Amino acid sequence: MPDEKSFHMTPEEFRRHGHAVVDWIADYYERIESFPVLSQAAPGQIRASLPAHAPAKGEPFHVMLADIEKLILPGITHWQSPNFYAYFPCNASGAAILGDLLSSGLGVQGMLWATSPACTELESHVLDWLVEMLGLPEKFLSTNTGGGVIQDTASSASLCALLAARERATNFASNQRGCDGKLIAYTSTQAHSSIEKGVQIAGLGRENLRLIAVDENFAMRPDALAQQIREDRHAGLTPCFVCATVGTTSSNGIDPVPEIGKVCRQHNLWLHVDAAMSGTAAICPEFRKIHKGLELADSYCFNPHKWMFTNFDCDCFYVADRKALIQTLSVLPEYLRNKATESGAVFDYRDWQIPLGRRFRALKLWFVIRHYGVEGLQFHVRRHVELAQQFASWVRNDNRFELAAPAPLNLVCFRHKGGDDANQTLMDRLNRSGDLYLTHTRLNDRLTLRFCVGQTNTQARHVERAWERIQQEASRWTA
Ligand SMILES: Cc1ncc(COP(=O)(O)O)c(C=O)c1O
Repeated sequence: MPDEKSFHMTPEEFRRHGHAVVDWIADYYERIESFPVLSQAAPGQIRASLPAHAPAKGEPFHVMLADIEKLILPGITHWQSPNFYAYFPCNASGAAILGDLLSSGLGVQGMLWATSPACTELESHVLDWLVEMLGLPEKFLSTNTGGGVIQDTASSASLCALLAARERATNFASNQRGCDGKLIAYTSTQAHSSIEKGVQIAGLGRENLRLIAVDENFAMRPDALAQQIREDRHAGLTPCFVCATVGTTSSNGIDPVPEIGKVCRQHNLWLHVDAAMSGTAAICPEFRKIHKGLELADSYCFNPHKWMFTNFDCDCFYVADRKALIQTLSVLPEYLRNKATESGAVFDYRDWQIPLGRRFRALKLWFVIRHYGVEGLQFHVRRHVELAQQFASWVRNDNRFELAAPAPLNLVCFRHKGGDDANQTLMDRLNRSGDLYLTHTRLNDRLTLRFCVGQTNTQARHVERAWERIQQEASRWTA
């Protein structure tokens, strides 16, 4: 019997085109520094270059690949360029890309243990490895009362933590009847916007999020937190959730988790610790102090997709008491019932996250950890911190510039002393030049430039060149 008519790629074609794609990616990394880091495309430019209608007939693969070069690259901001210092990094590596390719190839949807046992078990196992690698409290181990799960982003992790906090505080009544408008959440004025978004989504209401004042190092003030909780209780409200940040987005501020934890214990509040970027630093014993007090936390997250060479998306989310999370998020329709679930002997990660479906993300993380080893990861994290500290010392020694915040790890917040307009001009000129890319924030109501060293391939020569370019541009308009 001849095969039925098909438009699919044959395995042999896939092999050929796949090799071409891997070659293209390898070539891209070899020439990545020749592109302007920040895309210079104007709004609408990329769309205008695309055909108005989808093709009626399939096109040859080489034409599609050529269009990546011609139509897509002009609209790419090169996050994987070693000259990328903007936001926080979103770094990738060969091992992660290949692990992700295998995940696509297997095409697994791992919502239940039963829908691919390896997807669930590898994830639990690798996340347990990370507990040891980062020196996290043992209660976060899956072999203990807690466990880890991979979420798409820190935003989702914090939302899951908030939902579990909401249910624990109301004895699971909010799931049944909705929120009563009295639940209160707390975080600092410097916390990531995802906490505010989470509060909106979780139904607490934006007005029920308290933004607690910070000290001169942009760290949450535990006394102000305790005072606010007391006032809210006195007003008949129900405090339920605190999010502390280890490495704030604006300034790398590190909240005092031990003191915040004590306040949470005293008032029986859920403590979530968001270490989206900085958590990775704990792989080096000398930076592990950032996790002091974590034994008091109910949940914790960090993003290997920021600083652990694991391409987007990959957030590791840990809870101390998995039962609270599972009871919050579990709904069991008939069509998902199966013997393994009923036996209680397995994790079904659909109950640990918002969506039902899930990709096999643990593969890329497993590959990264095995490729680098703990030693390799420590080497690169240390190097990034050294380079950032070197940059901070150059800023300190140039009297036209000043540091705008302490630089405990790999983020340097600095500014030209010429004021907001001067800093805006400096940043715009540098970014327009394409030589490097950095972004800004406001600290103490002054425009501040952020320089984050965390891209996989950033080396000393890149950071030296970046500082030269910053000095050149500054000289141009201050001369
Ligand atoms: C401290 C912190 N939390 C949360 C986030 C949000 O990360 P995600 O994109 O993984 O939701 C960021 C992003 O930069 C962050 O810096």
